[in-house]
Amino acid sequence: MSLLTDIEPLKQAALAELQAAPDLAALEQTKGAWLGGQGKFTALMKQLGSLPKEEKPAAGKLINQAKVELEAALVSRRAELELKAALPKEPTDFTLPGRRRAFGRMHPLTQVTADIVRSFRKIGFAVADGPEIEDEYHCFDALNTPADHPARDTQDTFYLGGATAGQKPMLLRTHTSSVQIRVMKKQPPPVRIIVPGRVYRRDNADATHNPTFQQIEGLYVDKNVTVGDLKGTVEFVFKELLGDEVKVRFRPHYFSYTEPSFEIDFSSPMVRKMGKEWLELAGCGMVHPQVFENVGYDPEVWTGWAFGFGIERIAMLRYEINDIRLFYENDVRFLRQF
Ligand code: DAH
Repeated sequence: MSLLTDIEPLKQAALAELQAAPDLAALEQTKGAWLGGQGKFTALMKQLGSLPKEEKPAAGKLINQAKVELEAALVSRRAELELKAALPKEPTDFTLPGRRRAFGRMHPLTQVTADIVRSFRKIGFAVADGPEIEDEYHCFDALNTPADHPARDTQDTFYLGGATAGQKPMLLRTHTSSVQIRVMKKQPPPVRIIVPGRVYRRDNADATHNPTFQQIEGLYVDKNVTVGDLKGTVEFVFKELLGDEVKVRFRPHYFSYTEPSFEIDFSSPMVRKMGKEWLELAGCGMVHPQVFENVGYDPEVWTGWAFGFGIERIAMLRYEINDIRLFYENDVRFLRQF
């Protein structure tokens, strides 16, 4: 057998092997076995040098042709195998309609919060934030709330276990009022903030209570601030939120961090539809001088008001929802309506 007669059968064998490669990895291996540095076809080309001079041109030409054929076969088999690898493993019906991703939307409580924030921004308030895991100082002491106040009882408040002697007990904040203290300790007056946020109480869930709910706190500190400013601001925001027919009434109340203190009652056609004339909606008052002392503001110079209300209550009024638990159940049939 001469080199010349070896070319054709070797080429045929190589072509057959390339064609038989079952996947891309096998194909690359076959390519190496034939055309790589130590490949069987490469060895043939190396023998070309040892041929008698007159045989070289013909043999060289044949070898080159064979190599071109092998490379073409390699490229086309590779394309076939790539396509095969990309195809779905299971039979697929490409005529089926596409899978649509459902659009989400803002939760009704988020929408109400955003609207309240927008109203307050119009009149110069900024949003402030504070931790949901709070200490007793910010939640109670600095707000002039005495040690025997019921809010401090473990029956009413979630305390976190694990505090060892000397460590201050931590709790899930019972109201957003704690952020008043954090903001005033950080910046000098004047202050104009609102604080939307989640709060926690040991209430059993029923139509009007849930152990976690959302509040918005407001705090305004400046010189010569009056109850009139407070009432005007509250009226402005509620009218923006719930319509022009809204009426607001202040009723004397007690909070330890405000003096005087009020509860804000609210009346509207919606409230009357519920069979009531007034609905209690929020607490508020003029910031207690002791609170100013606690944060290092001079109560002889600075005056202010604060309020806090529940966002769920407002959302329930606005959307005529009669059970607070609906907000937390994440039933899309409910949520899709807003
Ligand atoms: N913190 C009170 C609550 O959780 C609400 C409140 C009342 C906030 C009076 C205030 C305030 O800022 O002045 O029910």
